[in-house]
Amino acid sequence: MNDTLVVYFSGKDAKTSATADAARNLASVTGADLHEIKLQNPYSTDFATLVKEAQRDKDADARPALAGPAIDLTPYRTVILGFPNWCGTAPMPVFSFMDEHMKDGSLIGKRIIPFIINDGAGMQNSVDDLRTHYPELDIEDGEAFEHNKLDNASLKAIDWIQELM
Ligand SMILES: Cc1cc2nc3c(=O)[nH]c(=O)nc-3n(C[C@H](O)[C@H](O)[C@H](O)COP(=O)(O)O)c2cc1C
Repeated sequence: MNDTLVVYFSGKDAKTSATADAARNLASVTGADLHEIKLQNPYSTDFATLVKEAQRDKDADARPALAGPAIDLTPYRTVILGFPNWCGTAPMPVFSFMDEHMKDGSLIGKRIIPFIINDGAGMQNSVDDLRTHYPELDIEDGEAFEHNKLDNASLKAIDWIQELM
């Protein structure tokens, strides 16, 4: 059984998402399992509407309900956590995922390695915000990858994870 899990949220169709692409690549090179964080009620596929919905949820510090049963994190020692930079931080569904697993304590003691796909602004407050919300967790610095040049972003992410693991 592999002891590494790549978990990601993209909020987009997996075929067009830079985050999903990087997550698949990282899982492939590390031999990790792959899990997508999905919403019960997905965000809009219209970009302008999605930005409004994401901003609304951020302003409300919302925890949108996740789809499906919670994944069992017990077998994993390392969790590579990927998401796009939304409005300067992690999308609120990432906080839903973290909260869900804080309840059962299954993230405690694990190595948590964030990677953040972005449009040029880097990770901004995302990792700081996660650390502020979950001070009891071992959340590493992680890394941000710009998605404008998708192939490069994925290749850089692969180099990065191979050095880190
Ligand atoms: C709702 C929303 C908010 C965003 N906010 C930011 C931001 O604050 N800074 C930034 O660099 N990029 C921002 N972006 C751009 C995404 O980080 C970028 O499009 C991401 O790389 C795309 O990954 P994806 O293909 O998996 O969606 C935002 C995108 C969306 C949809």
